[in-house]
Amino acid sequence: MTILVTGGAGYVGAHAVLALLDAGEQVVVLDDLSTGSRAAVPDGVPLVVGDVGDAALVSRTIADHRVDEIMHFAARIVVPESVADPLGYYEANTMKTRALLAASVAAGVRRLVFSSTAAVYGEPAGSTLTEDAPLVPINPYGRSKLMSEWMIADAARAHALGYVVLRYFNVAGADPKGRAGQSTPNATHLVKVACQAALGARPEVAIYGDDNPTRDGTCLRDYIQVSDLAEAHLSALRHLREGGDGAVFNCGYGRGASVHEVIEAVKRVSGVDFPVRRAERRAGDPASLVADTTRIRRVLGWSPRFADLHTIVAQALAWERSVSPDADGRTYARARIAASVN
Ligand code: UFG
Repeated sequence: MTILVTGGAGYVGAHAVLALLDAGEQVVVLDDLSTGSRAAVPDGVPLVVGDVGDAALVSRTIADHRVDEIMHFAARIVVPESVADPLGYYEANTMKTRALLAASVAAGVRRLVFSSTAAVYGEPAGSTLTEDAPLVPINPYGRSKLMSEWMIADAARAHALGYVVLRYFNVAGADPKGRAGQSTPNATHLVKVACQAALGARPEVAIYGDDNPTRDGTCLRDYIQVSDLAEAHLSALRHLREGGDGAVFNCGYGRGASVHEVIEAVKRVSGVDFPVRRAERRAGDPASLVADTTRIRRVLGWSPRFADLHTIVAQALAWERSVSPDADGRTYARARIAASVN
């Protein structure tokens, strides 16, 4: 039996594929390559290039590869973009998840692990968030994912589908062996952007708002290393195989780092004091998002291996170097940098 990984050529999906292969699982990737890349799919893993909302293609892929489990990563994930293009987000994240669900249920797929987000919590008042915190998303991205969560729960109840929803906090870092990292073109994520500034690939980093009710005025986020997150998917799948069901888990470490602290960590690890400037707050940005991780540790027995901001930054920096042109602008240094990380 094979696991279908939608969005398996993207950042988190590619790390999940590596974790599945490392665990001896059989995988097929479905990805439209809109943000993912062919190079992220390891040799020997079948890649179906296409749309997760294309029910005929999904049905064919499920039948051809004898799929009975799905990890659904394919989505659009940029909060400000969702504010500018809400209908695009509802289509990509909600409607296409519905199409995938319909094809899966019709084909008798038994288990689904779904990528959701801390953005479903909105603008939380308290310190850390349990999975039972109020669900009041403040941007279309969060709402598009919350609607999918509800749809999945309803479909699972009506059909014989086991599911786990994983709510990611802020994903960062790269595969410790240098096999994958965040290659998304025009990525806007803080750790990536700061690493690019450290390497001279962008002139500066803008801090979006320093007047938040946080310890230094910049936003707090719970940064989770991407291979730790991939491992959480494996734990979720095992949980379902053992008869667990219908569960929602936060994926984070339970502590927040501010934008200032992330930038300082990148400066320290890289040894480069790149320019930083203050900018206006970004639309749809909550001041603080930090996970309570009690449930995932207790129920899935998950424990992270890379819960340290400097480690995460060092991995992200190594990856960024490996995919950036060398000083002469022509050659690439992936192998050399990957070797230096290990
Ligand atoms: N930030 C800056 N400058 C930048 C980029 C980001 O100040 O150049 C700030 C943002 O304003 C925010 C923080 O850094 O306060 C983190 O921003 P990211 O863009 O890295 O990530 P977000 O918190 O906006 O969103 C990410 C994912 C979402 C997920 C959310 C959950 O993209 O999918 O984390 O915590 F929902």
